[in-house]
Amino acid sequence: MHFNTRAIHAGQDPEPLTGAVNVPVYQTSTFVQPAVGEHLGYEYARTGNPTRTALQDCLAALENADACVAFASGLAAEDAILRMLSPGDHVLMANDVYGGTWRQISKVHGRFGIEVTAVDLSDLDATKAGMRDSTRYVWAETPSNPLLKILDIAALAEIANAGGAELVVDNTFATPYLQQPLELGADIVVHSTTKYIGGHSDVVGGAVCTDEENAEELRYLQNAVGAVPGPWDSYLTLRGAKTLAVRMDRHCENAQRIAEYLAEHEAVVEVLYPGLPAHPGHELAASQMLAFGGMISFRLRGGEEAARRVAERTELFFLAESLGGVESLIEHPGIMTHASVVGTDLEVPNDLLRLSVGIEHVDDLVADLAQALED
Ligand SMILES: Cc1ncc(COP(=O)(O)O)c(C=O)c1O
Repeated sequence: MHFNTRAIHAGQDPEPLTGAVNVPVYQTSTFVQPAVGEHLGYEYARTGNPTRTALQDCLAALENADACVAFASGLAAEDAILRMLSPGDHVLMANDVYGGTWRQISKVHGRFGIEVTAVDLSDLDATKAGMRDSTRYVWAETPSNPLLKILDIAALAEIANAGGAELVVDNTFATPYLQQPLELGADIVVHSTTKYIGGHSDVVGGAVCTDEENAEELRYLQNAVGAVPGPWDSYLTLRGAKTLAVRMDRHCENAQRIAEYLAEHEAVVEVLYPGLPAHPGHELAASQMLAFGGMISFRLRGGEEAARRVAERTELFFLAESLGGVESLIEHPGIMTHASVVGTDLEVPNDLLRLSVGIEHVDDLVADLAQALED
């Protein structure tokens, strides 16, 4: 079945009791059992809930994974992946990742003996050199947040697996519609479903798509730790997933046009968008992605002051953290989403702005940026 069909049908058979076409919100904390020690597939809603099952089955089908485990947030999903490690294990992490990912690994899991080093994973020699005997994960984000670097998933999978490690890919920016990391050799895909999969800025969630062996351990950890998405959140996320492909087509189209507009603008020093032929990852992105995504970062000639001014002047682009919703957003990563990496190797330039290009009419978006960029 094609992607669009899976998005609407996988895990979403009509409900057998009434024939409801839409997956119901099973708003219940527990399930009656026919006899002691027997149940009908569900016993307690931390362990499982049918609305969550539908979401998981759908996302597994979209990522071509054996299984998916949905979480209360993207960071809860990452936390569960890291809880599969033991003290002394090492994570080789991309040096351009979401600030919260870096904070969690270095500051939280670091306290429990997990070691992490950051390298530029687009440099394959540096990646090989960064591998240790104790490396359990190579952790990539592509396109990366916020510098829009493109990493070679197949090459990283080879390096990771040759060293006895697994490749984790944060596929939040690309979504399974644009990029299928498991097909390219990755072992674990993680999502902040808060972003494009949810797609409407109305729910926080996360998901891990992987093989059955990892999924079994993740389910055990999730049940033991408890970071589950509620039924209503699962419902909203599933509702978003149904339209992922049509939204992504428009996000990509709009972003391409805006990136081209910004690249010509005299107030802009550099545009980071993999859809531009001048982007160093353009060819690689064209080979491993269906299209180039809806995220753009750009640097202002006038430095931090100009960046602040533009971010505060846009009207359609709301000044807000997060990304991937139908509405356009603008933010200053150095001060907002990536404040937790200030002073580390992952620090981002202070003249950088990040756009999450929405699905409004592109002419209106260009006009909004034009007025914000005026002297
Ligand atoms: C690429 C990426 N991964 C993970 C996360 C964390 O997800 P959440 O905010 O749903 O916990 C984010 C959040 O911005 C993100 O941008």
